[in-house]
Amino acid sequence: MTTIVENPILVTGGTGTIGRRVVAQLRVAGHAVRAASRRTDPPFDWGDPGTWAGALDGVERMYLLLPDETPLPDGFLDAAEGAGVRRVVLQSDRGVEVRGAPHVEGAERAVRATALDRTVVRPDWFAQDFETFFREPVVSGRLCLPVGDARQGFVDGDDIAAVGVRALTTDGHLGETLELTGPAAFSFREACSLIAAATGRPVEFDGTPEGYRSEMRAAGLPDEVVESLVERFGRLAARGDTVPTGAVEAVVGRPARPFADYVADAAARGAWGATSAYGP
Ligand SMILES: NC(=O)c1ccc[n+]([C@@H]2O[C@H](COP(=O)([O-])OP(=O)(O)OC[C@H]3O[C@@H](n4cnc5c(N)ncnc54)[C@H](OP(=O)(O)O)[C@@H]3O)[C@@H](O)[C@H]2O)c1
Repeated sequence: MTTIVENPILVTGGTGTIGRRVVAQLRVAGHAVRAASRRTDPPFDWGDPGTWAGALDGVERMYLLLPDETPLPDGFLDAAEGAGVRRVVLQSDRGVEVRGAPHVEGAERAVRATALDRTVVRPDWFAQDFETFFREPVVSGRLCLPVGDARQGFVDGDDIAAVGVRALTTDGHLGETLELTGPAAFSFREACSLIAAATGRPVEFDGTPEGYRSEMRAAGLPDEVVESLVERFGRLAARGDTVPTGAVEAVVGRPARPFADYVADAAARGAWGATSAYGP
């Protein structure tokens, strides 16, 4: 059962790809919500503990989303508990046990060590990655990532947010770790073909380590960084095809959004135009 939450629900990273969807969906459902980032008023900065109290004031529930490669700072969860937070929904990463994601691994451990009610949400690749991280290569017509043709569980940002909202506002998912995928798995090559068909422009995919090495070296990345990335992405290739988990549908009660629907919508709003007029 959903109850309307009147104390503001804190959403860290509340201006980013997933956080702003969580914020919007909470608002539409009538809950009080507070987005927090360096751009909000008051500003919230993971690197500045002096900004935490303002964000945590009056908060009992929070969606905890860390920026990429940003560890959860020591003291934040203590500050949250001290301020009256009782429930946390942590956005982690489905790659955590395969290619590793130290910032969210640390955050999972830290959250599990508290007395907070908690749900861990582990999404696979976001469908929206194709218009954030991968936008430039997609627009240039060539994406290179050393994951071979293993099928991935691209999941829509709106579905991730919908699961987060359920975990924040109902009691049905306390203590759970939810592995989120889309309804079907696609290789990056298949995903690029769908985008090419929708945009009418070719998008080639190179899934080989050799191709990735030469691109990253040309971009000026040091060899040791490139090799570490090749090794980590290689683990995703070695894992083989993702089997969709069905967790979005199980939690939200409707099917997860097909990747092809995302592609059609993103192409129609010009996500892969020469200049992207819209954010993800
Ligand atoms: N991309 C994927 O496929 C994928 C899959 C699974 C999990 N994940 C995980 O999802 C997370 C990223 O989510 P996202 O893509 O929605 O984020 P995002 O779009 O990159 O947005 C990052 C958010 O964090 C805020 N932020 C950045 N630096 C900050 C700082 N120093 N202090 C406070 N706020 C800061 C940003 O706002 P300001 O710039 O205004 O501060 C923004 O709201 C990462 O933890 C990643 O590991 C990603």
